Amino acid sequence: MSTALITGASSGIGKELAIALAARGHELILVARRKDRLTALAKDVVTSHKVKVTVYAMDLSKPGSSAELEKQVLADGHSVDILVNNAGFGTNARVVDEDRASVADEIQLNIGTLVDLTIAFLPAMVARKSGAVVNIASTASYQPVPGMAVYAATKSFVRSFTEAVWGEVPAGVKVFAVSPGATATEFFDVAGATPSTALASVSEVIDVILAGLDSEYPAPSIIVGTRNRVLARISRIVPLTMAIRVAGSMFLPKK
Ligand SMILES: NC(=O)c1ccc[n+]([C@@H]2O[C@H](COP(=O)([O-])OP(=O)(O)OC[C@H]3O[C@@H](n4cnc5c(N)ncnc54)[C@H](OP(=O)(O)O)[C@@H]3O)[C@@H](O)[C@H]2O)c1
Repeated sequence: MSTALITGASSGIGKELAIALAARGHELILVARRKDRLTALAKDVVTSHKVKVTVYAMDLSKPGSSAELEKQVLADGHSVDILVNNAGFGTNARVVDEDRASVADEIQLNIGTLVDLTIAFLPAMVARKSGAVVNIASTASYQPVPGMAVYAATKSFVRSFTEAVWGEVPAGVKVFAVSPGATATEFFDVAGATPSTALASVSEVIDVILAGLDSEYPAPSIIVGTRNRVLARISRIVPLTMAIRVAGSMFLPKK
């Protein structure tokens, strides 16, 4: 029986992915801060899909939390076949107005924890020549975003890091980044941002992740949705100043 560890499983993409993977018969390890939500999800999934679910309520923005998670996972006798580094959040402010503590948490969660969990669980997959690491990036990784400068930079890191690791692993081990565009989750409420485009459904993102897992040889980076794929390509072709201004027109808070 294969086990999937999903960070950020208490809402949005992580929650729906947990349900989808349980429906495929995977055992689950669910991680986030809101224990009540994780426990309720675990109960539903166990009832509906009869799979084993383990919940760890942890704040993964704290340095050392990923090592603590790894320790608990191993102590409880789990081996991780699919790691989904999904937990993440964005802050929507001009850099001069950013809260330094929130930004430190954002960088630690979106980057530090993602890298450390990859290094923690990938070696066993490489040794087995099977397994998958799915890192959730964003279309924000394709150009700088005034108003979400830190968030977009963290997601550029996630995508670059993941694409590089894709080039390191042997056949049988899948490592890929998934970049959703604006999606209907709690993300924008948490960020304090107003989406300027229509929101995609979470199920679109889940379908892309599942297709990547099903592919024998997934691409290093997968963008969710045709429109987002076209926009990412355009942002590479137009002058950088234009790409920055367009992104800023969507997210730069008014003075
Ligand atoms: N929605 C979008 O438009 C969009 C677009 C591109 C990329 N993404 C990315 O997709 C991923 C999932 O986000 P979502 O859209 O599903 O948003 P969401 O509904 O806000 O879910 C975020 C998840 O991350 C968890 N999380 C946040 N801070 C955490 C912390 N300190 N420790 C542990 N877990 C934490 C949250 O759980 P707790 O609050 O319970 O801890 C929640 O389960 C993120 O990486 C996000 O950057 C989202």
